[in-house]
Amino acid sequence: MSLLFTPYSIGSLELRNRIVIPPMCQYSACEGEASDWHLIHYGQLACSGAGLLIIEATAVVPEGRITPGDLGLWSDTTEAALKRVIAAIRQYSPMPIAIQLAHAGRKASSQLPWEGGQLMTEEQGGWPTLAPSSLPHAPHEAAPQALDREGMLRIKQAFVAAAKRAHNIGFEAIEVHAAHGYLLHEYLSPLANIRSDEYGGTPENRMRFPLEVFEAVRATVPLEIPVGIRISATDWVEGGWDIEQSIRFGLALKERGCAYIHVSSGGVSPQQKIPPGPGYQVALAARIKREIGLPTIAVGLITEPEQAEAIVASGQADLVAIGRGMMYDPRWPWHAAAKLGAQVAAPRPYWRSPPQSAGKIFGDVGVGQR
Ligand SMILES: Cc1cc2nc3c(=O)[nH]c(=O)nc-3n(C[C@H](O)[C@H](O)[C@H](O)COP(=O)(O)O)c2cc1C
Repeated sequence: MSLLFTPYSIGSLELRNRIVIPPMCQYSACEGEASDWHLIHYGQLACSGAGLLIIEATAVVPEGRITPGDLGLWSDTTEAALKRVIAAIRQYSPMPIAIQLAHAGRKASSQLPWEGGQLMTEEQGGWPTLAPSSLPHAPHEAAPQALDREGMLRIKQAFVAAAKRAHNIGFEAIEVHAAHGYLLHEYLSPLANIRSDEYGGTPENRMRFPLEVFEAVRATVPLEIPVGIRISATDWVEGGWDIEQSIRFGLALKERGCAYIHVSSGGVSPQQKIPPGPGYQVALAARIKREIGLPTIAVGLITEPEQAEAIVASGQADLVAIGRGMMYDPRWPWHAAAKLGAQVAAPRPYWRSPPQSAGKIFGDVGVGQR
């Protein structure tokens, strides 16, 4: 009996299995508005049989976009564009859908990855970036502007406004993006935050703004909507943010009603020394789960069904996220179900598709269309 394919609840949100599709930027929005690409991309992922789909990093203000192609949720038009996509998907897939709310901080104003991904000057179409301190991400890059209290309040209010819009659209969960060297992670990490006020210095001070943002988002949506967080559990740099601080942060989040922790790593410094390899972040998730006790998502080079099964079966994490693997093979959960002798939900028109060798993968839980 596969544990990967057993249901799991995040608060009152019921997932049919433990497979999560993590947020992955598509850089295909226009002025923050979701496009037909999002309909095609998320439409196919919503037919994959995964337990939860988390929509890509969605900027709460235009200057919080990583690139000009990032999705946004800061206006009636961006809300309407995303609503159209989600409403279309809802007609055919009952998969719960979450949204990751984000601000890119000093890593904003960058080129699309396939155009080089470099920080852009204003002549190139870029914009001034904001961060806890006026420290560039890489030495050759332009320094961001250090946020003052007014700027921080404006960003917190933008997270709140975006959370309201996410609720209007009908997202079933919200993920606050505090990983990968973007704004909230920049507050956490001493490598990016050298403030001398109560938002810098000690770990408690560095956690203050991310916790305030989390609390504000949590307070904005009804309790049935889980609000989780994605963190970089370590900067992979000596003297940076690390697992011990992540545990303190996680405990503080738990007190504030955090629904889950999605455990990633890195992204705040070009000095990072990441030990890549299968499941390279799973040990971090296991510590977080053990010491904090919140629902925990492991992610990072989890590619094989047996590997995913072992992570949940051994109790290292409650859920596993498959990122690039899902883009490479959007039917990953079907194929995993076939390998592990389990069943998934799929749209009815596809029910005749599995070869005999796959077994009965679309069973009682195979009610894909509403
Ligand atoms: C194209 C692409 C876009 C991504 N965009 C985001 C994002 O919007 N937010 C985020 O937290 N992580 C993002 N990530 C990181 C993934 O969510 C995931 O953590 C990472 O790819 C490692 O998991 P994997 O080995 O299963 O792909 C992105 C990764 C890729 C490949």
